[in-house]
Amino acid sequence: MKEKKSILQKLSDISRIHHRAAFTDVAKHTTPKQSAFLKLAAERYSCRDFSPAAVSDEELASILEAARLAPTAVNRQPVHIWVFKSPEALAKLKETSRYTFNAPLVLMVACKPEDAWVRACDGKNGAETDAAIVGTHIMMEVASLGLGCTWVGSFDPAKVLELFPQTEGWVPLALFPIGHPAGKPSERHGQRKSLDELVSEI
Ligand SMILES: Cc1cc2nc3c(=O)[nH]c(=O)nc-3n(C[C@H](O)[C@H](O)[C@H](O)COP(=O)(O)O)c2cc1C
Repeated sequence: MKEKKSILQKLSDISRIHHRAAFTDVAKHTTPKQSAFLKLAAERYSCRDFSPAAVSDEELASILEAARLAPTAVNRQPVHIWVFKSPEALAKLKETSRYTFNAPLVLMVACKPEDAWVRACDGKNGAETDAAIVGTHIMMEVASLGLGCTWVGSFDPAKVLELFPQTEGWVPLALFPIGHPAGKPSERHGQRKSLDELVSEI
């Protein structure tokens, strides 16, 4: 027998539908596309399917240079990047995450809180923010080269430290499987809050 939905459940369904309706299709509706960066930001998506083609050394060098140029709080640069590209390293890395997508190259961004700026008034440590900016530079340079990647936060950092002793003393923040795109953006890529929901003037 079909279960009857409670009024609360019905209301919750309706609000969820309305919430989704408020999302806009970013690629189609981000107008005007007045800058090259805005175009790139709209076109970038999380790529989870890759062709077996390798990422060239030149492409890797550009991605790493973009990472190096990222700003960090008080220029402390408490960040390190590891490159996984040998079949052995990639196979081992797979043990730490379901989300390496058989990419031919994976970068891992890690940070060291003891090297980072700390905000005096509340003790907030800036290491993860700095590493996130480095990760964002990586993601955007990958897109600008016509390659694809996904920011992967779903991995086991303790397992990384165990399998790769070189990473001792670092806090792994994210993996970036990188390669030549062989798929399409997911549905989520087109779903963003409207500007009204995102922004308020004070
Ligand atoms: C901090 C962070 C962690 C994420 N972790 C994962 C992950 O572990 N696995 C995954 O498939 N995607 C992950 N993503 C990708 C998001 O799901 C994706 O960016 C979001 O759904 C929007 O889609 P789009 O990037 O295609 O526009 C992560 C993204 C961010 C920013």
